[in-house]
Amino acid sequence: MTHRLFEGKDHASAYQKYRFTPPEELNNIILQYLSKKKGQPHVLAVDLGCGTGQNSHLLAPHFQEVVGIDISECQLEEARAVPGYPNITYRRGTAEDLPFPDCSVDLLTAASAAHWFDQSRFLAEASRVLKPRGCVALLGFSDLNTRLHYQDCGERLNQIYEEVRQVLLPYTSNRVTVSEGKLEELYSAIPFPDKERIDSVQVKSSISVRNLVGFIETWSMFQIYKKKDPKAAEELLLKTQKRFLEEMGVMSPATEIEQEMEYFCVLASKPG
Ligand SMILES: C[S@@+](CC[C@H](N)C(=O)[O-])C[C@H]1O[C@@H](n2cnc3c(N)ncnc32)[C@H](O)[C@@H]1O
Repeated sequence: MTHRLFEGKDHASAYQKYRFTPPEELNNIILQYLSKKKGQPHVLAVDLGCGTGQNSHLLAPHFQEVVGIDISECQLEEARAVPGYPNITYRRGTAEDLPFPDCSVDLLTAASAAHWFDQSRFLAEASRVLKPRGCVALLGFSDLNTRLHYQDCGERLNQIYEEVRQVLLPYTSNRVTVSEGKLEELYSAIPFPDKERIDSVQVKSSISVRNLVGFIETWSMFQIYKKKDPKAAEELLLKTQKRFLEEMGVMSPATEIEQEMEYFCVLASKPG
């Protein structure tokens, strides 16, 4: 079964504006893993569920060619509109039916996307298209462990963030729960003996209040809520921004908050 929650134009444009680029340190871990297992040259990387292309951009300097694949044409349109990456192409497709010959791909990635795939069909395709010793890297972050800091009111900001998650909880797909479990089941199902999990890469960054609220707008559970009650969803965002600003004692949504996030990654290499 495929999940079609990322199809709308508004959702895709929120993705382009507010979705995070995965951290460089995690990208380096993935590239080092590929170098260790398969070695050079790094010819073709395929970024599955590429959305608006943030992870594909990170791969571009390290491969001759990067192909971003997504089921949603709206997401791909946004991705194609970003200039400056001549070796990336974006193609509509699914992780379960890849448009590549057998043994042709060096690296398959999926950033915050693998939990949406049909596990067994995706793993069969990964086994087919990867070169011998080619690698798969499934990364994501656990939003349950996100922490916000601003002067002495970090805990109250965390509470507001958690309250928003609670409001949206009834609209959570069980696939999101799979991601919060750091893809444990998918990891176990990978048929390659050579595999490992990196459970926690802590990353600190800063984010404006406006962008943090925009990030909430990208959540699939927010989009489900918005379909059901657009007015209430809009109000939730406005109210959340207002509450953040009041707690912080500032007026401008451009004010930056420190954000700590926990990323994870599942790595595996096809037998040679
Ligand atoms: C949470 S978004 C992540 C997007 C991007 N990789 C990122 O890190 O922001 C998940 C993406 O996976 C895509 N998707 C969902 N199921 C898919 C499938 N079976 N095959 C390919 N793409 C899929 C969605 O359209 C969406 O763009």
